[in-house]
Amino acid sequence: MSTLALHGGTPVRTAPLPGPTEPAGRTIGPEEAAAVRRVLDSAHLCASGGTEVPALEREFAAYHGVRHAVACSSGTAALHLAVGAVDPAPGDEIITTPITDFGTVIPILAQNAVPVFADVDPRTGLLDPASVEANVSERTRAIIAVHLMGAPAPIAELAELARAHDLVLIEDCAQAYLTELPGGALAGTAGHVGCFSLQQYKHITSGDGGLAITGDERLATAMRLFADKGWPRHTGRRTHLSLGMNYRMTELQAAVARAQLPKLAGVVSRRRATAKRLAERLAGLPGLTVPADLDSHAVWLFPVVLDPALPSNEEWAKALAAEGVPVSAGYLSMPAYRYPVLAERNLYGGSAFPLTAPPARKEWHYPEGLCPNAERLIGRTWLVVSWNEAYTDSDADDIAEAFAKVHAEFVST
Ligand SMILES: Cc1ncc(COP(=O)(O)O)c(C=O)c1O
Repeated sequence: MSTLALHGGTPVRTAPLPGPTEPAGRTIGPEEAAAVRRVLDSAHLCASGGTEVPALEREFAAYHGVRHAVACSSGTAALHLAVGAVDPAPGDEIITTPITDFGTVIPILAQNAVPVFADVDPRTGLLDPASVEANVSERTRAIIAVHLMGAPAPIAELAELARAHDLVLIEDCAQAYLTELPGGALAGTAGHVGCFSLQQYKHITSGDGGLAITGDERLATAMRLFADKGWPRHTGRRTHLSLGMNYRMTELQAAVARAQLPKLAGVVSRRRATAKRLAERLAGLPGLTVPADLDSHAVWLFPVVLDPALPSNEEWAKALAAEGVPVSAGYLSMPAYRYPVLAERNLYGGSAFPLTAPPARKEWHYPEGLCPNAERLIGRTWLVVSWNEAYTDSDADDIAEAFAKVHAEFVST
């Protein structure tokens, strides 16, 4: 057995893996440059009266086979459009997962609703429908499911729950471009609204940006108004019908996103190919569980679940980093409900509103132990490997070799 780099041995790899911030990990090229030039030459940079934003909305909707797409300034804004369209009353509840970017949770609080955290499946980190059901109350208005790391959340079960309890189902697809749901539909098309992010590190990017898709005319209208101050510009009247923000995407962002869209399928298929290579090589290592079906996965990240009997994710992460393969232990440092903003209820001038009764049906607190499966994944059993479209077969082989080397040491001792 070769000595771990952590203990003075030779590392598997010394060259850094291609990172998503480097040109090699992105697909920005002459097409995007020409798109930006086109907008600058037009001297019209704002969505109002522009052509690029409406064209992106048409193209993105068609790409997903849905009737409406609404462009906006970020993935968080896209989720805020969806929650704004749900229009919860203060203290109403929206159920979501504690393992996500905080951009999933902010819109709930911003609309004065209560985020209710359901636990996740310990094998996947995706929302557990049984826990969602146990958290439904007479105040629940919506569910936000997250297709985490690009894996399909159990949307059929959640859609059934949403139907039975008359809830809006929002799919957070920020990490899940071209994720396929069982049956072949694309993530974002099975719930009422699907929300995407065009932030720098996503599969396609315009620096920042977001898109919300829906087949529902009423929700589309509400989201369009919410993105533009509640102003129905198409009527020609200067009036404000409902509460909204200025979440408009610029023409520059839309032009870049339009140039990125035709590259998306290639990005996802390159990520899948190298991820499948890694999964095959890890399959022989007892105690490690990798995503079951990488053909339906967008591979924004590559998660590995450790058998709880093995050393902790922190120990693996340290050993793998020394081998030249940086991985994240647990993806997040804590579940979303333990961030001070929620754990200490740092909200609205220290009032803790809307987590207070009334308007909520009870005082909401988010103690440790609220979602044990999520806490165990983060604190103990989850290793998350960064991924991007620039990884080569040889990069995947190096990652596999590092895992095998650490496994040999950790499992035999
Ligand atoms: C699952 C998830 N939801 C929401 C967001 C928020 O997107 P943005 O950063 O574009 O606001 C992100 C971005 O990291 C995300 O990963």
